[in-house]
Amino acid sequence: MGKILLTGGCGFIGSHTAVELINEGYEIVIADDLSNSSRDTVDKIETITGKRPLFYEIDVADAAALTALFAEQPIDAVIHFAGFKAVGESVEKPLAYYRNNLDSTLTLLETMSRYGTKCFVFSSSATVYGDAEPPFSEEMKTGGCTNPYGWTKYMIEQILKDAAHADPSLSVVLLRYFNPVGAHESGLIGEKPSGIPNNLMPYISQVAAGIRDHLNVFGNDYPTPDGTCIRDYIHVVDLAKGHVAALGYGLAHTGAEIFNLGTGRGSSVLEMIRAFETANHLTIPFEIAPRRAGDLPFSFAKTEKAEKLLGWKAQKSLTDMCRDAWTFEKSCH
Ligand code: UD1
Repeated sequence: MGKILLTGGCGFIGSHTAVELINEGYEIVIADDLSNSSRDTVDKIETITGKRPLFYEIDVADAAALTALFAEQPIDAVIHFAGFKAVGESVEKPLAYYRNNLDSTLTLLETMSRYGTKCFVFSSSATVYGDAEPPFSEEMKTGGCTNPYGWTKYMIEQILKDAAHADPSLSVVLLRYFNPVGAHESGLIGEKPSGIPNNLMPYISQVAAGIRDHLNVFGNDYPTPDGTCIRDYIHVVDLAKGHVAALGYGLAHTGAEIFNLGTGRGSSVLEMIRAFETANHLTIPFEIAPRRAGDLPFSFAKTEKAEKLLGWKAQKSLTDMCRDAWTFEKSCH
């Protein structure tokens, strides 16, 4: 059996998926340029699993470097996590986002084609549903993204569907993530944003750690029960297990298939603050601030398709997410 290539395998979701794949007996190869992650993640994965993944420090848009990797390693499938993901930055630097995110995907597909690798699992996002009415289901029309980051996900989905259509022996699995939070229960790997966090959970964790004095709640006048936005938060370890299931599916089927990876449950910003406080016995000071541009009131998944075809369902609670996020945050100081 060949190996599984994880691009961006040192990142937040990639590293957790590396652990779950190794636990399931897969041999993995990580390719990461470390632009938003660090090399010691490879050591942490080894500490957790007892197995050291192979590691290549390369940019997967670099065709020569990627070719050298494929020439050395037999690759059965690629899980493509690597990509730029900061929404605000994508508005400032759209060309960098389109260049990086699209180029890496195209280079991977071309290289896979030369080496006969037939399975591609892609990190897409619930952002492709735009302002459609939740719960979001896989067959809904996509588009209407509010930023270039979202459009890169939308465009890459299209590229992959077209590639699968043109080559019936190819298998493409598009995974639409909802809001991944939490960390591995060991506290060894987790989400480590550089600079001021954009996302809610890392921001709450940094307030708890005393790095920021309060959380700004972006808007409390949305048409939701408490006025703050509703999101479908999913524990990153559940999400990682979803990748193991999706990979098994991809290796056993051809064609393109799309799966939501969410819990199907929505929680408001105020509920998240309360859950974090209760799980960790501390207080999160917050202030109500103006709405953030591009935020939608509701987002949550329809989860039946993944349950039915992948046999996968998120198991962990909000308490687990908040406890594990805090354990990881504390381990960083
Ligand atoms: C964001 C992106 C989404 C991307 C995802 C993963 C936007 C509009 N969407 O999702 O495309 O796939 O991150 O990186 O940016 N909040 C606060 N205070 C904060 C931070 C967040 O109140 O300091 C609120 C937000 O208004 C939102 C909720 O918390 O209602 C969740 O925000 P966030 O964690 O940034 O995720 P999304 O916006 O859902």
